[in-house]
Amino acid sequence: MSTCLSCNDLHVSFKMPDYTAHAVRGVTFEIPEKQTISIVGESGCGKTMTALSLLRLVPEPYGVIHRGSIFFENRDILKLKKDELRRLRGGKISMIFQDPMTSLNPLITCGKQITEMIECHTTLNPKETVDRTLQLLGEVGIADPSRTFSSYPHQLSGGMRQRVMIAMALSCSPRLLIADEPTTALDVTVQAKILDLLYNLQHAKNMSMMLITHNLGIVADIANQVIVMYGGEIMEFAPVTSLFNAPAHPYTKNLLETIPHTDNKKGRLQVIPGDVPTLRNIPAGCPFNPRCSMVMDRCRKEHPPLYNLDTTHTVRCFLYDK
Ligand SMILES: Nc1ncnc2c1ncn2[C@@H]1O[C@H](COP(=O)(O)OP(=O)(O)OP(=O)(O)O)[C@@H](O)[C@H]1O
Ligand SMILES: [Mg+2]
Repeated sequence: MSTCLSCNDLHVSFKMPDYTAHAVRGVTFEIPEKQTISIVGESGCGKTMTALSLLRLVPEPYGVIHRGSIFFENRDILKLKKDELRRLRGGKISMIFQDPMTSLNPLITCGKQITEMIECHTTLNPKETVDRTLQLLGEVGIADPSRTFSSYPHQLSGGMRQRVMIAMALSCSPRLLIADEPTTALDVTVQAKILDLLYNLQHAKNMSMMLITHNLGIVADIANQVIVMYGGEIMEFAPVTSLFNAPAHPYTKNLLETIPHTDNKKGRLQVIPGDVPTLRNIPAGCPFNPRCSMVMDRCRKEHPPLYNLDTTHTVRCFLYDK
């Protein structure tokens, strides 16, 4: 399986007035060509910062990528010049954000926002650009592309706006699409449709996709591999079937228990006790130790490395130290 992107030992931190917050701490993963990899974890665990790093969009000047490499098409993204980065963003790698209302410009029609992207990254003439835009709007399931083309974002529903965002992200046929919580702002039925659409487009267009979500439930049908993050670190990394059938990390098991089931015997939704640590007070040892039901003495003192359970499944937990 060839690799689309490989991220190695990524560290991102924020310089706060009185301390340095380490938001991403030594994250390493590969996104295989034409596959979907998902990052899951609770709020604040570093999912968005990891994704933004792939496009070097970590908010400056306080946020800094201070270590690591991100290889894409044989080049380290962290070493690209400004104009090379501009060509990469929205061209070869594009991103869909959580809230389409803040990502679309309220003063420009949807059509114009997409044509601008195409003009930036391709050599199509104006007529071809408009045709391509209408075609894209059709591909993302918009019933009346010409009408949407001339609509302003506020004239569309949340689901339609997210479809426009997806059309924009696809406008230059990216090799990698990053979707950061693409359905969180939508209601449940629309969520399912947008996820279906992303799944179908990823296959039809032979792209790689990185899907970020805090809800493990939605990755089962879409992702090939799943990264579980906690406190800025990867806690478990596995093919989706292994993760669901044989979750190894106590945190992953807890996350799976929080997925609502209609046959939940206990009758109530499970919660993970305790809170996600803030970056100011990441505990010593394993960052999950204060909430872990399997905690051992050494978890409070030593930092667990990643253990390989097999060639595809790794977990950061002393329970697997043989
Ligand atoms: N602009 C910022 N200034 C300071 N710290 C920040 C900033 N943005 C993010 N952080 C910190 O970085 C950490 C990781 O944030 P990130 O946005 O990657 O989390 P996330 O996993 O995407 O969470 P969510 O599910 O809420 O989107 C958080 O703990 C947050 O406090
Ligand atoms: Mg986020």
